[in-house]
Amino acid sequence: MTAEYKVHGDVAVVTINNPPVNGLGHATRAGITRGLEQAGADASVKAIVITGAGKAFSGGADINEFGKPAAMAEPNLHSVILALEACDKPVVAAVHSIAMGGGLELALGCNYRIAAPGANIALPEVKLGILPGAGGTQRLPRVLGVETALNMIVSGEPVKSEMLAQLPGQKLFDRMAKSPESLLEEAIAFARSVADARPLPKVRDLPCKHPLGDAYFQFARNMVKGMAKNLPAPAKCVDAVEAATQGRFDDGLARERELFASLLISPESRALRHIFFSERAASKIPDVPADTPQREIRSVAVIGAGTMGGGISMNFLNAGIPVTILEMKQEALDRGVATIRKNYEAQVKKGKLKADKYEQRMSLLNTTLDYGALKDADLVIEAVFEEMGVKQKVFEQLDAVMKPGAILASNTSTLDVNKIAAFTKRPQDVIGMHFFSPANVMKLLEVIRGEKTAKDVLATVMTLAKKIKKTAVVSGVCDGFIGNRMIEQYSRQAGFLLDEGALPAQVDRAIERFGFAMGPFRMGDLAGNDIGWAIRKRRAVEHPDMKYSRTADKLCELGRFGQKTGAGWYDYQAGKRDAIPSDVVNKMIEDHRKELGITPRRISDDEIVQRLVYSLVNEGARILEDGIASKASDIDMVYLTGYGFPIHRGGPMLYADQVGLFNVVQAMKRFQKNPRDDQKFWEPAPVLARLAAEGKTFNQTT
Ligand code: NAI
Repeated sequence: MTAEYKVHGDVAVVTINNPPVNGLGHATRAGITRGLEQAGADASVKAIVITGAGKAFSGGADINEFGKPAAMAEPNLHSVILALEACDKPVVAAVHSIAMGGGLELALGCNYRIAAPGANIALPEVKLGILPGAGGTQRLPRVLGVETALNMIVSGEPVKSEMLAQLPGQKLFDRMAKSPESLLEEAIAFARSVADARPLPKVRDLPCKHPLGDAYFQFARNMVKGMAKNLPAPAKCVDAVEAATQGRFDDGLARERELFASLLISPESRALRHIFFSERAASKIPDVPADTPQREIRSVAVIGAGTMGGGISMNFLNAGIPVTILEMKQEALDRGVATIRKNYEAQVKKGKLKADKYEQRMSLLNTTLDYGALKDADLVIEAVFEEMGVKQKVFEQLDAVMKPGAILASNTSTLDVNKIAAFTKRPQDVIGMHFFSPANVMKLLEVIRGEKTAKDVLATVMTLAKKIKKTAVVSGVCDGFIGNRMIEQYSRQAGFLLDEGALPAQVDRAIERFGFAMGPFRMGDLAGNDIGWAIRKRRAVEHPDMKYSRTADKLCELGRFGQKTGAGWYDYQAGKRDAIPSDVVNKMIEDHRKELGITPRRISDDEIVQRLVYSLVNEGARILEDGIASKASDIDMVYLTGYGFPIHRGGPMLYADQVGLFNVVQAMKRFQKNPRDDQKFWEPAPVLARLAAEGKTFNQTT
């Protein structure tokens, strides 16, 4: 049952009932029209109320129908709203809890609206790269005024019903109910009171103008241009609302449909919708069912109060979970706690955190030098130096003191979690929790599933990740896991580009124009070039035949570690972060080319972008093949939330799908012919070659 029909005396009540949020899927839409027909045919019914059962009036489109033919199957939402408008008995929307997207558009098609306080009202379509396509851009400005409506449509953010009801001259709500509990009763009484009102009021008949006319829309366009770089939807929202102020209502509606259709097929909207689904999919692990029992996490211990330990601790303090940090020396603890304080104080200063909340969070923090103090913690996260020997000692001590059932996690960014687990007698309780720096800010958490990690440990960590507001993606064990394993190939390509003729500033500019938050060289300077140097030294031993450019090592040999040493790939002025191209570095690169006997060539920005992005794609494909990631969309989530991959492109794997895997493989074959590049590097991963040959996409693999 998706819409219930009940008669209360002379008022019919149609109740949308499609949990969890009364999404307007096909069956629900059909249920609503059936209810309208029934009410229309019953002579004893004088008026109709539409409301929603449970937790929402309606959350809008049914996400299971997104992009599928069912979304447009008749009766589509547009037709349901036309049926509402054509009804010859008054229809009252009784709005509560959530009226968003199509749900709000449905309410706008009714003759009257009565709202309960506390309802969240929004047209959030812009967040998926589209615009309201069932009259929202035409009707909302008529009831709220052009400016308020456009703000809501362009931001997609919800506004409380009582706030909207207070706006002078608003016609969105004819009445506010006293409470959600009394809403239905009040709506029925109100419907009865308007049963004989004729002509029936319709939102489409209301005037729609902005006093500043064209000038206002020019301002609005300028505003959204600054806000929404690379995303076309906000500007098209302005176009649609402008159309509402010009000419006939039905012409505006037609324009809205046209704009909606053009956005729906845009790569940007596809990317945003992909992200929406990928985020949900990431939390689902194929062999760990949703009802897997979980362990309770009431307290957390963190080993190491360095860069990562401090940030990791803040996540739990923010979520109200007590944290004990352990260090080797009191000074290290004091330094770590001072950094946490400094971070919170900066938030208080910016008005992002209330002073009492800050104190409350700090009161949850304890420090210790003694492993014995950790024995009751439910979870311990190790964030000490990245050396297996150090990790071994820590895990042996943890194994000795932690209570049975405690989860033992490592924040290692490259080391073998299976080996770490083997240092304990409880490998089933060991897992990787790979946070990204700064750990209190970055959304990504790679959850590393060891060979022996128990399912309930995995399920518990995934739930905990949500609690601390992280996007968790599960990765198997391999060097660098998903994110860093891919970035290694990207960095190698960046190095080859320098050897062949590009300079750091050109490479960074090209990939930043593509949409990356930061190019590889600016990124290296920020993170510290010495980190990669240490990793390369280790890998040179493990993989002596691996080809890579020596420029990054030469840079480190000059002591140019990045911003922290005031010089890296770029020069930095004291206390500033602006990257200034460096003559020293450019000369170092030139000299290196001479040593190799390379005559530099001009490399186009397109080639730079393709080589960098496809290096991610090819390694991503290998990661899929090796079963390190269970689906391509997980890889996209890692890159979007941890590596600054441009949101509007939806992640490297979706980007490759959109370019077409056949084209990606063709480009790789071209790169293979470049004698300066690495032939083996550009050998398409078998899964990529197969999908390209079959005309398929990565998305179809999952
Ligand atoms: P860090 O050098 O800033 O901090 C390490 C801290 O651990 C130091 O305060 C040190 O005194 C303490 N420590 C060392 N041995 C210890 C022991 N036996 N017992 C207790 N405390 C000990 O290092 P950072 O950057 O915080 O890295 C920590 C871990 O996090 C490493 O495994 C690293 O690979 C990983 N990681 C680092 C990221 C980064 O961007 N810095 C990102 C993701 C992971």
